[in-house]
Amino acid sequence: MSAGKGFVLLDFESFLPQLTIKGKKITVPIIQGGMGVGVSLHPLASAVAQEGGVGVVSSAALDRLLSKRTGKKHNTYEAAYEEVSLAKANGGIAGINIMCALVRDYEDSVRGALDAGADVIISGAGLPLGLPSIQKPKETALIPIVSSARALELICKKWERLGYRPDAVVLEGPLAGGHLGFKMDQIELESNTLENLLPQVKDAAMKYGNFPVIVAGGIYTHEDILRFLKMGADGIQMGTRFLATEESSATAQYKQAVISAKKEDIVVADKPGSPCGLPFRVIKQSPMYASSLKRTRDPKCDKGYVLLKDQEGKFTRCPAKEDNETSFCICNGLLSSAGYNPDKEEALYTVGTNAYRVDKIVPVKNLMDELTGKALAVA
Ligand SMILES: Cc1cc2nc3c(=O)[nH]c(=O)nc-3n(C[C@H](O)[C@H](O)[C@H](O)COP(=O)(O)O)c2cc1C
Ligand code: SF4
Repeated sequence: MSAGKGFVLLDFESFLPQLTIKGKKITVPIIQGGMGVGVSLHPLASAVAQEGGVGVVSSAALDRLLSKRTGKKHNTYEAAYEEVSLAKANGGIAGINIMCALVRDYEDSVRGALDAGADVIISGAGLPLGLPSIQKPKETALIPIVSSARALELICKKWERLGYRPDAVVLEGPLAGGHLGFKMDQIELESNTLENLLPQVKDAAMKYGNFPVIVAGGIYTHEDILRFLKMGADGIQMGTRFLATEESSATAQYKQAVISAKKEDIVVADKPGSPCGLPFRVIKQSPMYASSLKRTRDPKCDKGYVLLKDQEGKFTRCPAKEDNETSFCICNGLLSSAGYNPDKEEALYTVGTNAYRVDKIVPVKNLMDELTGKALAVA
């Protein structure tokens, strides 16, 4: 399989080389990163897909978000099916991000997305070792997210035994929003910059089938995109820029917090941090994070998305259920920042390192014109 990249202007509107994943041609090599809970839903994903990029909904807590939106009860399978279908309804390439950390709902989300004909399933926040074995993916591309060549090799070796190889990989560096695939003391190491990780991951991708490598984390401008493409990346995944669009489903307060954030306000939460056990980047003034530092919210588990199995095989274990010293209740914090239960729970705002550069909320079309270089060309 070839990465399908060439530095020719294949599309006069894009000014960037197109990307091919599993035989599908993507006019603009920009993937809008999945943003849970409830930030990247079908309005954002569909808008990006219609502009020639890849639109991605997040599977996190979709059952609740959709049930609230429609007034009907949807289970996890139905919610993934419905949201992917809506993301694809107006054309373009669209799929879903399913985090491994959401163990309880993982397989149902995958099945719903596959049955809906998702173009891509992108999966990280843990290693998606069993993803190809859940159900035959047919036309859907399976794309793991990794933060090192070692993680990619592990996945490729496991998937080889399952008779599958990644259709592409997202390499996410330490500047990204959401959960980070690095230990706290590895985040700032020079060896872990996206620039330094890319050649190793490119080599691993070459070794296991020459599939496209998509880079993510801290990429902000058209020039950044060109720089990474010149370094050998085949595509780019971006989160924070798409969070700050009119079509993202973050609440108005969340978007305002992004606009107001200064560089020093963006911190990596550790203790208290995410109960998923990975460093998690937040705006330090997020109400739930600020309260968690004072330990004012008593532990209470009523959503259960990040529960792990106990010895009897039941989903009962979450660090945030046990105490409020080490973790905050991420399910409720993130649901609140998507407007699900803002009167009952405080919001938690996750962003990438570059969120302090955002000074306005823009429509997806304007953002895509800026990122592809089209806006510059017509200026
Ligand atoms: C608000 C927000 C929520 C995110 N949620 C997820 C998620 O649910 N799953 C995931 O794999 N990545 C998640 N990410 C990471 C993005 O998909 C993307 O890879 C990353 O933000 C890229 O870095 P950037 O924000 O600097 O562009 C999230 C990022 C943000 C900003
Ligand atoms: S304690 Fe909170 S974060 Fe943990 S599973 Fe329950 S609702 Fe989710």
